[in-house]
Amino acid sequence: MLISHLALSNFRNYPHLEIDFAPGITLLHGNNAQGKTNLLEAIFFLATARSPHAGAERELIHFGAASEPIPFARVEAKVERASGQTIDLEIVLVTGEEKDLATARVSKRIKVNGVNKRALDLLGNLNVVLFLPEDLDLVFGSPGDRRRYLDTTLSQIDPKYSRALSQYGSIVEQRNALLKEFRERSYNAAELEPWNNKLVENGAYVMARRAQAIDSYNNLVAEIHPRLTAEHKVLKLHYQPTIPIEAFTQNDDASARQLGLGITPPAAPLEQISAAFKQQLADLRTKEVGAALTLVGPHRDDLRFTIDGVDMTTYASRGQGRTIAVALKLAEIELMRAETGEEPVLLLDDVMSELDKPRRAALAHAILNAHQAILSATDLDDFTEEFLGRAKILKVNDGKVEASEMRVDVPEGKSEGESNVPF
Ligand SMILES: Nc1ncnc2c1ncn2[C@@H]1O[C@H](COP(=O)(O)OP(=O)(O)OP(=O)(O)O)[C@@H](O)[C@H]1O
Ligand SMILES: [Mg+2]
Repeated sequence: MLISHLALSNFRNYPHLEIDFAPGITLLHGNNAQGKTNLLEAIFFLATARSPHAGAERELIHFGAASEPIPFARVEAKVERASGQTIDLEIVLVTGEEKDLATARVSKRIKVNGVNKRALDLLGNLNVVLFLPEDLDLVFGSPGDRRRYLDTTLSQIDPKYSRALSQYGSIVEQRNALLKEFRERSYNAAELEPWNNKLVENGAYVMARRAQAIDSYNNLVAEIHPRLTAEHKVLKLHYQPTIPIEAFTQNDDASARQLGLGITPPAAPLEQISAAFKQQLADLRTKEVGAALTLVGPHRDDLRFTIDGVDMTTYASRGQGRTIAVALKLAEIELMRAETGEEPVLLLDDVMSELDKPRRAALAHAILNAHQAILSATDLDDFTEEFLGRAKILKVNDGKVEASEMRVDVPEGKSEGESNVPF
């Protein structure tokens, strides 16, 4: 998969940008606050219909657009798929009656090949693996961060997942509103029943799919993690649902079992999950009515990590946490490739500068082998000469992008696609 063209109008600090991208590595180089992250954000936005940064989508509209009759931002890209098919993607953000960008509500219009689509139908047209500096802290972050991480990956590869997740989210909201109503009037089981059914139907799929992905991650990191550390310590991901499901609690690893962490089975038993979810809702009925909240389900799941059975949420060193994050990203690339049959586009926002040499080399290796990788950096010293020789370097300066004068020659005897970056 390849982004061959990107056009921005009034997106963040880009009043107007038209840029062609080639296969291979594109390195966005520039000083701080010039628009490197914003450009990567625009591409991620086209892949997922959401920003990894903005609190509100109005923040994406260029400040200067406020004086226009109808302030808007437009992001467009041309995507070339492995099949030879070309897809035009477009998202327009427009303010409504209120034009003040500090408070305006914006509406989002999405088009795929010129036809209006819902956000859910945009997903999967452009597959990206985004790596941000904050992702390095995934292990130390909140369960919500880790759920978001899984959701971003799975939503891009499984349309059924993104639909189930989105429906699940709105069912939780409506169910919570009903539980709140029960506080004012008496509880009515018949009213709750249909919500419970929908909750279980969508929630069980989300859980089964997360579990299945975690099993795939475990297979992939079994090879990736020792490569990153030059040690034979075993990194394991553990799915931790709020619902006690027998299949997820079995574990032949005694130390992880002590932590209450199971090993996720390869075939997630959808029926077992649904039955356990239903049972848990019945058991917690009084509690949920009291709290006026949906207390269990995939919106409260966590993903945990162990290395040789030691719980990394509690005991990871900074470096160990970062290694886990790099291992996950490398696994994610392979997972996407395997599930979609397409090479994902890699987007890396200044992460090389955050890593030590061996981890940087492992990531550089993945980037060199990627069909297309777009990365940003303030300092070219973070890269080897060979890497720079393979990259097309673009200079980002105050919302403008131009080809850099800088050219680094590829060392003699190296051909395209071949890497000599040592692990
Ligand atoms: N809606 C907007 N309109 C205009 N400018 C904006 C908007 N949103 C953000 N900016 C500005 O865009 C500039 C560039 O931001 P960006 O995060 O892309 O920089 P960067 O090149 O990645 O810098 P760094 O190296 O510090 O990460 C910032 O100065 C920011 O204030
Ligand atoms: Mg940045």
